Amino acid sequence: MTSELITGIAELTTNAGSGPGDVDGNRITDAALIIEDGRIAWLGAAVDAPDADARTDVGGRAVLPGWVDTHTHLVFAGDRSAEFEARMAGGRYAAGGIATTVAATRAASEEQLVTGARRLRAEALAQGTTFLEAKTGYALDVEGEARSARAAAEVADVVTFLGAHLVPAGADRRDYLDLVTGPMLAAVAPFASYIDAFCEVGAFDVEESREVLLAGRAAGLGVRVHGNQLGESGGVRLAVELEAASVDHCNHLSDADVDLLAGSSTVATLLPACDLSTREPFPPARALIDAGASIALATNCNPGTSYTTSMAYCVATAVLQMRLTIAEAVWAATRGAAVAVGREHGVDAVGSLRVGGLADLQVLDAPSVSHLAYRPGVPLTVGVRQRGERVTAGTTQR
Ligand code: NIG
Repeated sequence: MTSELITGIAELTTNAGSGPGDVDGNRITDAALIIEDGRIAWLGAAVDAPDADARTDVGGRAVLPGWVDTHTHLVFAGDRSAEFEARMAGGRYAAGGIATTVAATRAASEEQLVTGARRLRAEALAQGTTFLEAKTGYALDVEGEARSARAAAEVADVVTFLGAHLVPAGADRRDYLDLVTGPMLAAVAPFASYIDAFCEVGAFDVEESREVLLAGRAAGLGVRVHGNQLGESGGVRLAVELEAASVDHCNHLSDADVDLLAGSSTVATLLPACDLSTREPFPPARALIDAGASIALATNCNPGTSYTTSMAYCVATAVLQMRLTIAEAVWAATRGAAVAVGREHGVDAVGSLRVGGLADLQVLDAPSVSHLAYRPGVPLTVGVRQRGERVTAGTTQR
């Protein structure tokens, strides 16, 4: 076992404190840390650093936990840039666009799906995303969803079953729900940790979503919900009722929805890149935080509504447009996100830097995390360690 001392850390964001406002618990200036066997063996003030076998000086840069991206749809084929272009010319996003990707995904081979997902996973990793969730949901038949789940399991840390993404063209609604809650769930469950449903006009209503989510829960899966993206769909209420780990999107929330989330353990996962790409109003992030709700930020990487793997872009947008503080946004993209996906792995396993925790971290070419929003659009992540291993450009596997 070789230990490595990382020195020259101007600002170390640990996010090991009690919340985003816990400055002393979350940040050490003029810091150092030691990595041993893929984990953090020591961290603290540089003046107190013990010796190690090797030493790396990051030259006065900021170090923070790797991003935890809890909402992606990485397994797909095809491209929807024409739909995007039409939207930018004034069209509105509708759930039906999913069908375009379903057709392309069904026509692709498993190898093509894995290759595409690996490319996006590598792109995310190079930008500091050391832990990532991926969903199925672009095949919508039994063999195709199982194929997507296998592909997702190849590249992601956590897999979510999203057979309830859309009723595929030509299918009878009732028959499709029976398929999702029966043979499709049975085929996908061995690869998945969570079940999800797109609870929205044009996709699934509250009753249908509840049926799907309860079937998943009975099969041992945790619950996530796509809710309140295009209107007050009832998805948030359902997520809280089912004690879902997370309800994602949350663009259209009533005051009662905000209060429900604040009084629950369900994390509101906000997807700012998607909001920009669909021109939906941003979620009331400030109201959620001020009411005491837990929030996370994620990319929602998919070809329809959010074709980006950049968590830094989401953090910058959350600060600049949604009025989060820098500390709140970085927390939501690391530790807050770990809470949203921590059912299996334990919320302390990722998203924070602490002795005994995984050495999943990134180095910014900047002295502090404030530069993520101060210098938006600049690729500031210049070093990434995943389980202590140095990630190099072009790395395609975990
Ligand atoms: O999270 N909203 C539902 N699912 C995806 C988009 C799917 C698509 O349009 O391809 C999302 O935005």
